[in-house]
Amino acid sequence: MACFFRRTIALQLARICGQSESVFIPLISAVPVSKKQSTADVRVSVNSLVQIGVVIPDGDLQMITDTLVKQIKLDGVVDEVIAGRGVIHFRLNKLILAQKLLKQLHLEPETFGVKSELLTHLQGGRTLVEFSSPNIAKKFHAGHLRSTIIGNFIANLKKALGKEVIRVNYLGDWGMQFGLLGAGFERFGSQEKLRAHALQHLFEVYVQVNREAKCDESVRLAAAEFFRRLEQHEDQALSLWKQFREITVEEYKRIYERLGVHFDHYSGESFHQSQTHNVLEDLMSKHLLKTSEKGTGVVDMSGGGDMSSYATLVRSDGTSLYITRDIAAALDRKERFGFDEMIYVTDKSQSVHFQQLFHILLAMGHQWAERCHHVAFGLVQGMSTRHGEVLFLEDVLEEARNRMLNNMRRSTTSKVLEDPEQTAERVGISALIIQDFKGPLMSDYKFEWDKVLQAQGDTGVFLQYTHARLRSLLRTHENEKYTCCDVSPLMDNRSISILQHLLRYDEVLLQSARDLQPRHLVNFLFTLSHLVASAHRQLPVKGSSPEVAQARLCLFSSVCSVLANGMRILGITPVERM
Ligand code: ARG
Repeated sequence: MACFFRRTIALQLARICGQSESVFIPLISAVPVSKKQSTADVRVSVNSLVQIGVVIPDGDLQMITDTLVKQIKLDGVVDEVIAGRGVIHFRLNKLILAQKLLKQLHLEPETFGVKSELLTHLQGGRTLVEFSSPNIAKKFHAGHLRSTIIGNFIANLKKALGKEVIRVNYLGDWGMQFGLLGAGFERFGSQEKLRAHALQHLFEVYVQVNREAKCDESVRLAAAEFFRRLEQHEDQALSLWKQFREITVEEYKRIYERLGVHFDHYSGESFHQSQTHNVLEDLMSKHLLKTSEKGTGVVDMSGGGDMSSYATLVRSDGTSLYITRDIAAALDRKERFGFDEMIYVTDKSQSVHFQQLFHILLAMGHQWAERCHHVAFGLVQGMSTRHGEVLFLEDVLEEARNRMLNNMRRSTTSKVLEDPEQTAERVGISALIIQDFKGPLMSDYKFEWDKVLQAQGDTGVFLQYTHARLRSLLRTHENEKYTCCDVSPLMDNRSISILQHLLRYDEVLLQSARDLQPRHLVNFLFTLSHLVASAHRQLPVKGSSPEVAQARLCLFSSVCSVLANGMRILGITPVERM
């Protein structure tokens, strides 16, 4: 809600309840628009006032509500106060509502919502978001794609709300798989193919060497030997590994760019391999690491000290594991980046891993582990391309683009575009993102291209279409100067509904920031787009008198900014035409 309205109402409540206005700010919310036009714009639940102790609960809730309502003054901003069931409803003066909102959006479209006082407590500090994190030479599966877009959303949101954000990609770039890959490459790798199609070639080599290792002892021995050379940092082995890594990172950078994603750091398991030694020593000195009967090094997870559950940190041959490297990586990041919070984004199958990681860090005395979070998500079934199962990120982008291009060619509303491919790609990617963000991140879902790319219904295509249509309207009237002086032509139900809906933007951002779920923002943008669709029909600009046309353009341009800002936070690049 625009700060002005929240503050006005908070001041009234502060006067009545005798508290500072800031305690009321979070309790004041915009009424969601619904089919039946609501007369109230803002509400406060009386229960919430009782809960924070500013209202003494003497008498029943309705009596308290009535008493409060009687004391609220109609001050020109608040036109009417209505006692609902345990809720105070405020009706705002609609002219002031339109004026304040549109002026703010006209002057500072970029900061609308994100600078709300509702969100100030979230500002500041440094957040490290680790996401995407594919494994070299292995396939980039749907889980990596989900991690990429969800992590990007979280990073964008945190940034928009005023945090310093560090984006880290933690590659799977170490482990026995590199023994196999190295040995395989020495047998049937090709430098030429590596330069031309790095990811594909490494994957092929990896698949082939795995196959051969199954029935050929000498391949297994060669792999173990190569990994030994690597662990001992032997020049030749190391330089081949380095080449694989660099070339993979270069490829990924290029593909991430198509997705609109970037990273500040490409780290990886390899960087922390050598630090695992110190981690183990530290754990030992704190008496946390025990040797099991099998000869492995383990840490008790039971809480009661009975070892009923434990994490393994050292294999019986003395080598370290995934979690050992993760402990080292977390310590290193804390020292290097001094983050205030750290967020890991992976599918839910790794939930136990992260619980163990945070638990061990805490046991080691690192209180900051309480500010480390794992954002988990569900599995996607059936994501495939024309070539079959998804192996590479690029194939998904290609498929989204081609399918979208086809749909655009068949559609009668499609415009002639300068660069249809790029538009198709952007719209296709938005469709993927929205499909993924619609529900709770934890739920699994079945992937269907046709459903994802539908132009009707709540899809990414629909959001892009709404944006493009607004942009086209604004371009058509580019030369008509519009200010937001006279908002009186916006007193119809449709315009008011849009304004009421815009009041909710900061609350929706807060919801998403709290639970790190994009669906609140996605749903907000869907409702906004539906409101715009009917406004397009009912509130024409062309043919209206200059005052009406100006006021409507002002409204449409405001909506367009909010839509674009919201899409960008989700990781979507709004298109100008489609
Ligand atoms: N590379 C891992 C995988 O593909 C994901 C890494 C997640 N991050 C972490 N710090 N463990 O499963």
